Amino acid sequence: METSFKTVKLTCEQVYNIWATEPELLQILDFRSPAEFSQFHIPGAKNISLAEAPFALRNLQEKLAVVIVQPENEGTIVEHLGPRDDYVLMTQCQRWPELRQPLAGHGIQATILNFQKNIGADMKNDIIFHQLFEPESSTYTYIIADKKTKEAAIIDPVLETVERDLKLVEELGLKLLYVLDTHVHADHITGSGIIKQRTGAKVALSAEVAVPTVDIPLEDGQELILGDKKIKAIETPGHTDTCMTFAFEGMVFTGDALLIRGCGRTDFQQGSSAKLYDSVHEKLFALPDDTIVYPGHDYRGQTSSSIGVEKQFNPRLGSTRSKDEFVKIMSELKLAHPKKIHVAVPANLAGGLVTSSLVMHPQVVDGIPEVTCQDVDHCVKTHKGAKVRLIDVRNPDEFVGEYGHIKNAELVILGPDLTRFLEAGDREEEIVFICRSGGRSGSATAESLKLGYKHTMNMVGGMIRWNELGLPVEKK
Ligand SMILES: [Fe+2]
Repeated sequence: METSFKTVKLTCEQVYNIWATEPELLQILDFRSPAEFSQFHIPGAKNISLAEAPFALRNLQEKLAVVIVQPENEGTIVEHLGPRDDYVLMTQCQRWPELRQPLAGHGIQATILNFQKNIGADMKNDIIFHQLFEPESSTYTYIIADKKTKEAAIIDPVLETVERDLKLVEELGLKLLYVLDTHVHADHITGSGIIKQRTGAKVALSAEVAVPTVDIPLEDGQELILGDKKIKAIETPGHTDTCMTFAFEGMVFTGDALLIRGCGRTDFQQGSSAKLYDSVHEKLFALPDDTIVYPGHDYRGQTSSSIGVEKQFNPRLGSTRSKDEFVKIMSELKLAHPKKIHVAVPANLAGGLVTSSLVMHPQVVDGIPEVTCQDVDHCVKTHKGAKVRLIDVRNPDEFVGEYGHIKNAELVILGPDLTRFLEAGDREEEIVFICRSGGRSGSATAESLKLGYKHTMNMVGGMIRWNELGLPVEKK
């Protein structure tokens, strides 16, 4: 995916005006030293070390980026931006203090980049890399691929965002070979089982844990091939006793073993603080300092770090901490158990499939959960016995007319019939509403939601779209 820049010339005042009215439109990356940063900085700015610059710059969101750097380090930043010349250097940051005290800054220069498009970023020319986020559990999912062969792996997918992730895989034309879980998660249900069913990708997880969906039980040091590249599994127990870190092309996907300036908890799932300390110090901190750390979660908006930076600044595991200190810190955390632990762990031990009662994963658009015809077709084909009701809300003549209806769909006409049906129905039931083009079924979905239904959704495009796609219909 190409990241394109648009040359824009913004003055300090213009940046200030955006910042003062809609600060969320800006991402301010401040590459000065922590000491300089702590003296003064623009509110909302993120202090990033120069070591992290390549990754921070490649992971910019689709926002206006303000890059603040001391003049002597400007060359380094420009170098990390690669051979591009289509950004604008703003040299008027001395105007900040005039615009708003106490944001005094002398000799600060800012580079203004306008990212037209940045859905993920290519780290190097020959790999594809995307970092995706699931906000409820603050989980990062990663898609990595060899650019030439398009062979890909997805790391730590979340059940709720499977559709989004597979859409991206499809858009990028990737061949998904592996679904990797860093560990058996306690805070969310894995999407690995569903992705395996949908794509045929092989599920890989530590060999130390028995999960029926697993195709590749991973041992320490085992390698998985993507084109001419390798993903290496590194055992890093401690958060749980079966945690794996995945190393790929100068990056490590650490799951919950090592987080940015933190680490995963060690108080359940056979966790052990002493083991985690050893895993991080002996395995992860033994990697080159410029290895980029991509964690399984982040709760503070940080996206990546590096081994060198974590060695230095990780307050729990960094260089000054002894094992005894770490064990003590961890024993005193007294965290509440994750909300989903009683659901997530058993579900994940079944590959995210068995105890997940819901079949469909709608996307909510304008407050209405929606699924596509393909989703419904897939559900009809693969979850034959599952409890998803298809309710067609058209008139009886349409049901058997030109566009026909979907096999096993039930006819309940929008209006008094549907209202009666919904009032008497089970609010937990999973229902897809269908009509001619998606309008009436949208109203039916809205009505059901109002009555307290939790798992109802609209089939977008209705039977017209269904027929356009050539999906099977019945006419009597
Ligand atoms: Fe975890």
